[in-house]
Amino acid sequence: MAKILLLYSTTDGHTIEICKRIQGVIEQTGAEVALRDLKDEPDLGPDTFNKIVIGASIRYGKHQPLVQAFIKRNQAVLEAMPNAFFSVNVVARKPEKNTPETNPYLKKFLKQIDWQPQNLAVFAGRLEYPSLGLFDKTMIRFIMWMTKGPTDPTGTFEFTDWDKVEEFGRMIARL
Ligand SMILES: Cc1cc2nc3c(=O)[nH]c(=O)nc-3n(C[C@H](O)[C@H](O)[C@H](O)COP(=O)(O)O)c2cc1C
Repeated sequence: MAKILLLYSTTDGHTIEICKRIQGVIEQTGAEVALRDLKDEPDLGPDTFNKIVIGASIRYGKHQPLVQAFIKRNQAVLEAMPNAFFSVNVVARKPEKNTPETNPYLKKFLKQIDWQPQNLAVFAGRLEYPSLGLFDKTMIRFIMWMTKGPTDPTGTFEFTDWDKVEEFGRMIARL
């Protein structure tokens, strides 16, 4: 039976929601999924899983440094089985920046690592202004204003295309 390790790096939790949706789709096919936070340095011991997926969100232009560090430490394990990587950011709300070939963060990240994931995806994230501190709220509103996005400080804006997330989950199940 397929056992899939789904690893995430998140700051505000939206990447976990995306992972849970992927998990649900995969589990419907009868496969097993283990969902783990990269922060907890999950054990990649032999025979515990046979596919691996990493999802990470962007904050101020970067994935958390631990993502790159984890990939570097575990590249051999990653390459030994079907694998995938996805990035979550709000630039991906723009149709011209929502594919692995067009998303600037994913393109830059792939140049910084040696691992070449077999499968890639980009998902638009979520902004919850009321939960942000003053500095982050001001910065993000400014960036949104510059890029013609929503700036209402009382608003929560979810840009995620859940059909695209589910399609990715089905693709992972087929690997
Ligand atoms: C403080 C802050 C900085 C962010 N910086 C960026 C950024 O530079 N580029 C971008 O596209 N999205 C940026 N985002 C949007 C996040 O990627 C988006 O909110 C995502 O859903 C966060 O996922 P997470 O909750 O799993 O951390 C930022 C969000 C916050 C709150």
